[in-house]
Amino acid sequence: MSVSPDRNLHAPAADETGAKMPRHVAFIMDGNGRWATARGLPRTEGHRQGLAALRKVIRHAGRVGIETITIYSFSSENWNRPQAEVSFLMGLLRRFVQRDLSELHEANVRIRIIGGRSDLEPGILALLKEAEDLTRHNTGLNLVVAFNYGARSEIVRAAQELAAKVQAGDMQPAEITEDAITAALDTSGLPDPDLIIRTSGEMRLSNFLLWQAAYSEFYFCDLYWPDFDEAAFDKALSCFCSRERRYGGLDAKAN
Ligand code: IPE
Ligand code: IPE
Ligand code: MG
Repeated sequence: MSVSPDRNLHAPAADETGAKMPRHVAFIMDGNGRWATARGLPRTEGHRQGLAALRKVIRHAGRVGIETITIYSFSSENWNRPQAEVSFLMGLLRRFVQRDLSELHEANVRIRIIGGRSDLEPGILALLKEAEDLTRHNTGLNLVVAFNYGARSEIVRAAQELAAKVQAGDMQPAEITEDAITAALDTSGLPDPDLIIRTSGEMRLSNFLLWQAAYSEFYFCDLYWPDFDEAAFDKALSCFCSRERRYGGLDAKAN
């Protein structure tokens, strides 16, 4: 199956009505296990089908001109699952890098990984690094993969980095600003997510992008992730386009 986005644009696109499209869409890809259980299949089959849905989403994001997508692929809390499921998910990551990386590279996709790295197994670390290094200079869709990611631990790591600079005398406490914290996070340099989509009917963040989501729009859909397709994505995008973002101010008509 091809993962190539059909085209890659940099500027945020507009839909046919001229409404502004999101620059950055983040996905909490949830419901793989329930998708499988509902069909009498092992949960692992849900994860396999979830990867197929992800390929569709990457392709479609490029086609509609979204600049960045972030996918929650494995949380820092997902290590608490049974060992067999964790191993299967690691195998799936390995297969994704082995099978899809060259095609993503050809499609000009730039891959960036966010999440804790310090206690990852060397084999996994090498895969993540390979994906980032190969695609580092690409200029198309940014694909941000949240792996071993937890927002609280990301914020803790950023706080520790800034504290170390202050302790070394390279920074004043007053220089710990919102911009300094933003720059110390794993997502440094990326725009905040405009839209966060969570599938499977759950309405929570599960430790995803807590800092970056301050003014994100949320879209929850009942489909399990393996059933999420281009039509579901378009529906979420058109819902986003109909929203008025006020950032604490007043809407444009009230000015
Ligand atoms: C999301 O699906 C994939 C990961 C968390 C890795 P789940 O595995 O959480 O599926 P449900 O929520 O149990 O159905
Ligand atoms: C969030 O889903 C993590 C990913 C999608 C990778 P979970 O299934 O782990 O979240 P909870 O446990 O339902 O909150
Ligand atoms: Mg889940």
